[in-house]
Amino acid sequence: MEYHQAEWYDAIARDYWHMVEPELRSVLAPWEGESALAVDLGAGTGLTTVTLAQKCAGEILACEPEREMRVGLMSKVTACDSLRQRVTVLPWAAADLCAQLAEPVGVVTAIAMFDHLSPDSRAQLFAWAARNLTDTGVLIIGPFYSDTDEDLTADGPGVDPIAEPAPHTVNATDPHLGDCYAQTSVGRLRYSGWARLDSGDDGDCWQMTWQVHQGEELLAQRESVFRVYPATPEELIAEAHAAGLTATRQGHFLLLRRSK
Ligand SMILES: C[S@@+](CC[C@H](N)C(=O)[O-])C[C@H]1O[C@@H](n2cnc3c(N)ncnc32)[C@H](O)[C@@H]1O
Repeated sequence: MEYHQAEWYDAIARDYWHMVEPELRSVLAPWEGESALAVDLGAGTGLTTVTLAQKCAGEILACEPEREMRVGLMSKVTACDSLRQRVTVLPWAAADLCAQLAEPVGVVTAIAMFDHLSPDSRAQLFAWAARNLTDTGVLIIGPFYSDTDEDLTADGPGVDPIAEPAPHTVNATDPHLGDCYAQTSVGRLRYSGWARLDSGDDGDCWQMTWQVHQGEELLAQRESVFRVYPATPEELIAEAHAAGLTATRQGHFLLLRRSK
């Protein structure tokens, strides 16, 4: 798994984040001012870390295994004094968190990263959460969208009005690239992300392609293959329950707490 588009991540994630952030804020509302340790697992470039830090008042561990993603994460954390004092950036994957942290944790966010975890890794994380969450603690995972949900980008801000007409618009498909899941302009350039799910004998892989255009001209393209382990919310609820966690659904998120 390699996020070769790390430098373009925030641009391509813009519509996703406009959609997800308000809902994540409302999910986190009961933990407003939480003083216990909080963890952002799969922190990426720090979009989720900043939101978590704005809600929770205590120390935060931002765990992100991809070095290129941590560049954005470090920049966001360092740019703000309150974050710089409270947020520790760690190169930890989920397995590292489970192996290295044995302290009471008030909030764990694992946003848009759960498909990266194998069933064994999920079981390890759920067991870790059951051991380490405080009495009021929570592990928040998601967002989960179903076919009946509106397309993530359908009502979003869409392509900037100043953008050149796109050769491929959002929701376009291409047999090789798959679906164009996001497109955003930054200045004169347009950034787009494409994804194609290949289900092979060895499991599911997302063939990811990211492109940068100026007008009709393709300036740069990067690709990656993500091995993913998709699981339905129902499957995750059952796995979490087996590990000693009780799930509640809130909007597009699952909130997992220690079972009483
Ligand atoms: C789609 S990004 C989401 C980043 C951020 N949470 C957000 O919502 O913008 C998924 C992140 O999970 C990270 N990741 C992948 N496998 C992981 C693992 N096993 N443990 C922790 N993080 C992982 C990736 O490096 C990537 O930065």
